[in-house]
Amino acid sequence: MKEWQKETVYQIYPRSFQDSNGDGIGDINGIISRLDYLQKLGIGLIWLTPMYVSPGNDNGYDIADYYQIDPVFGTMAEFENLLNQAHERGIKIIMDMVVNHTSDQNRWFQEALKSKDNPYHDYYIWRDPVDGHEPNNWVSKFSGSAWKYVPELDQYYLHLYDVTQPDLNWRNEKVRAEIFKMLKFWANKGIDGFRLDVINNISKDKNLPNDTFKTPLDDGRNFYTNGPHVHEYLHEMYEEVFGPNNFVTVGELSSTPISEAVKYTNPKRQELSMAFTFHHVKVDYTGGKKWTLGHYKLTDLTRILSEWQVKMGAQGGWNALFWDNHDQPRAISRFTDDGKYRDQSAKLLAMVEFGLQGTPYIYQGDEIAMKNAYFTDISQYNDHESINAYHALIKSGVSKDEAIKILQQKSRENSRLPMQWDSSKNYGFTTGQPWLKPIHHDDYSVETVLKKKSNVFNFYRALIFMRKNKQVLTDGAYKLLDSHDNSVYSYERFDDKGKILVMANFTGETQERKVADGFNLILGNYDNIELNNGTVTLRPYESIMLENK
Ligand code: GLC
Ligand code: CA
Repeated sequence: MKEWQKETVYQIYPRSFQDSNGDGIGDINGIISRLDYLQKLGIGLIWLTPMYVSPGNDNGYDIADYYQIDPVFGTMAEFENLLNQAHERGIKIIMDMVVNHTSDQNRWFQEALKSKDNPYHDYYIWRDPVDGHEPNNWVSKFSGSAWKYVPELDQYYLHLYDVTQPDLNWRNEKVRAEIFKMLKFWANKGIDGFRLDVINNISKDKNLPNDTFKTPLDDGRNFYTNGPHVHEYLHEMYEEVFGPNNFVTVGELSSTPISEAVKYTNPKRQELSMAFTFHHVKVDYTGGKKWTLGHYKLTDLTRILSEWQVKMGAQGGWNALFWDNHDQPRAISRFTDDGKYRDQSAKLLAMVEFGLQGTPYIYQGDEIAMKNAYFTDISQYNDHESINAYHALIKSGVSKDEAIKILQQKSRENSRLPMQWDSSKNYGFTTGQPWLKPIHHDDYSVETVLKKKSNVFNFYRALIFMRKNKQVLTDGAYKLLDSHDNSVYSYERFDDKGKILVMANFTGETQERKVADGFNLILGNYDNIELNNGTVTLRPYESIMLENK
């Protein structure tokens, strides 16, 4: 068992965390000023989303210079200071790394544009037009074709994401060598690991064939997700960088089946430490489509989570556990009730997550029950993915009102709101104009939450502490108790020494359930619970953790 398997990771989206100089954008010195807060929470690692030089078309996931910190966030010296200060507090730093694509402003791409025989041309994926059209029918994850025509070269380049994010050609050995060199540069700074952005997309099918469009998922991804050489490339990265530096690594692996996730994360294969997968956060995609008003059934959610728990556990894989991040709406708005039962909801989701096997992640603000933005106009959005989706919806005949409702529910901008620190203007995030407008008059902030008696922050602390001390939570087996229960999610974790039972009422109504004898309460999200004669009455959004030794 590795030490990090008992720890909790905290994800920081620097742009929205803490501004220190009044320009409205969060920065490195802002993060440093909040390290004591994070230490108090008890987390062991921080994942920082990208802070490299970038034009910011995809908020830093479009890297123009891999070797420099973007001045908007600070300087390299400030970054080194952050690293030292975190280490002094016993906190590790994981950097986000984007190697599937670069920004079109990257020097490599600028060179590539100059001519077909420029040495950098082959750093990217180019194809000649086919009958005057795109080389194939693949769709960009941010809407529209995945190909962009460059008239000067009479060629198209591939961009699976924004048009300003050309995909790198990993078949080119020189690309791999450049990437490994760059990863080593950051390793030598003393960081502790990487979160690897869309890493399962780096190896494309050589022939780039058309996809079938039989379902919304047959949009090209069949030919680049978990592609032919991806495991080789990752093993090479492990040997060159991750292994020698004893790194903690997590791969972002969308559209990935369990059998593949096992390959990425089983330690014997020497690829990654753990996997982010997304099946559970697609549970409210109506007909497989993201940009719809969605509802979910608890039994679908528990079936997906349970399958991953059981199969990853049995085959030596390791899950990264999460409900939301900078690409997802806030979990309490999505899966539970962010109104009347906001505190209970935040605690319930935390308990369900921390009881599962894997490494739990907290996205900034989850620990104070932050909720969706509920923007009412498209002009309030900044994110390209959301804006493109809005226009695509309108074009397909959806009304403006309906499109806004869909964005309120599904847009990732919801979780990018500035962190709410206190009750001053802009919640103490900035003294200037915040880059993204905060929500109006919300009485949740670090300051107000910490004043409450049984607060969400302390609930997370308790769970983090428990993860460090209860071995059964790390390596105990998992069992779903009732796969037909559409209101209460009950599961057990067990080893030969004992059992943990988690019961979570995902409804706004009271639910009665049976409990076997011999269990004692160790944590609950209401102040007192009733456990009589083998029956428990769970109030709205009540969740409890019990132990039997
Ligand atoms: C990942 C990132 C997301 C970004 C995309 C393209 O999914 O998490 O924010 O837009 O990759 O780099
Ligand atoms: Ca700033």
